[in-house]
Amino acid sequence: MPAAKKEGDDAGGWRQFLWNSEKKELLGRTAASWAKILFFYVIFYGCLAGIFIGTIQALLLTLSDYKPTYQDRVAPPGLTHTPRSDKSELSFNMKDGETYLKYVKGMKEFLKMYDDDKQEDALKYEDCGETPGEYKNRGDLESDVGVRKACRFRRQWLESCSGLQDEHFGFSEGKPCLIVKLNRIVNFRPRPPKSNDSIPEDAQSKVQPYLIPLFCTNKREEDAGKIGEIKYYGFSGGFPLQYYPYYGKALHPQYLQPLVAVQFTNLTVNTELRIECKVFGENINYSDKDRYQGRFDIKITVNS
Ligand SMILES: *[C@@H]1O[C@H](CO)[C@@H](O)[C@H](O)[C@H]1NC(C)=O
Ligand SMILES: *[C@@H]1O[C@H](CO)[C@@H](O)[C@H](O)[C@H]1NC(C)=O
Ligand SMILES: *[C@@H]1O[C@H](CO)[C@@H](O)[C@H](O)[C@H]1NC(C)=O
Repeated sequence: MPAAKKEGDDAGGWRQFLWNSEKKELLGRTAASWAKILFFYVIFYGCLAGIFIGTIQALLLTLSDYKPTYQDRVAPPGLTHTPRSDKSELSFNMKDGETYLKYVKGMKEFLKMYDDDKQEDALKYEDCGETPGEYKNRGDLESDVGVRKACRFRRQWLESCSGLQDEHFGFSEGKPCLIVKLNRIVNFRPRPPKSNDSIPEDAQSKVQPYLIPLFCTNKREEDAGKIGEIKYYGFSGGFPLQYYPYYGKALHPQYLQPLVAVQFTNLTVNTELRIECKVFGENINYSDKDRYQGRFDIKITVNS
């Protein structure tokens, strides 16, 4: 049977390949040859690992513990509001508490961290004045002064929108409040507008040193005259400079952003109104791509 014989030969060839006792070869190589190959790969992978670790170390050295090197989030600064809502749309019936319950709840939740009793610790908080003032320098980011104090921000400065006097934040009277803040950016110093040129006429009276003014108005031409009076609470209706710069989460854990509350006191009812709020400053830009950069707009419908 020739086939069986052939199989036997094959098996013999295999065994000889695995271990050739004549030539003392394992898998067709001598011990010296295997040693050389092993040596080569140890060096080769050693170098690869070295390059890899070296590159990562070099990259880590360029990173700061306190300041992000790359900020790929939306170009700063974002202007955001509470209550947040789906599609930036607030719609409620002033006579039906259920319809605005979620907004009021969101605002109460957000304002909790601004409660007085959370800001008592004199080692962590300090008063920074009740009128807009200069930037509060608390040392360089990299210097080792340690954790920085935060400026207190009193909830009662938001008056009718503080939730302290009116627990419905005006919603029950058809005069809803919005709480507005600028997003935190480490080491960012917003600069107030230098002149009135680029600012809508109605907002010019708000321009003053040490303040980033916030101004809201109708977004659409056809809503002109339907928005009614808008009241601003907290620091002349803007963001005062003494709350800047922010030193980041590690160095400034207690930091509270300054707030502005906006109350729409005479909105036309049963109409969808589109309102845009904007901050103004030398280093504050707006972008067509990012609807929250330096401004936002919101649709409000008050039903009665
Ligand atoms: C901008 O205009 C307001 C009112 O018109 C005025 O009080 C203010 O001084 C002006 N500010 C600048 C920087 O021109
Ligand atoms: C509210 O707005 C209406 C016009 O939409 C106006 O007639 C009325 O005087 C305003 N009320 C107040 C208190 O400003
Ligand atoms: C704002 O935009 C202008 C032009 O688009 C640009 O030159 C400037 O650097 C921008 N400023 C900031 C702070 O991003």
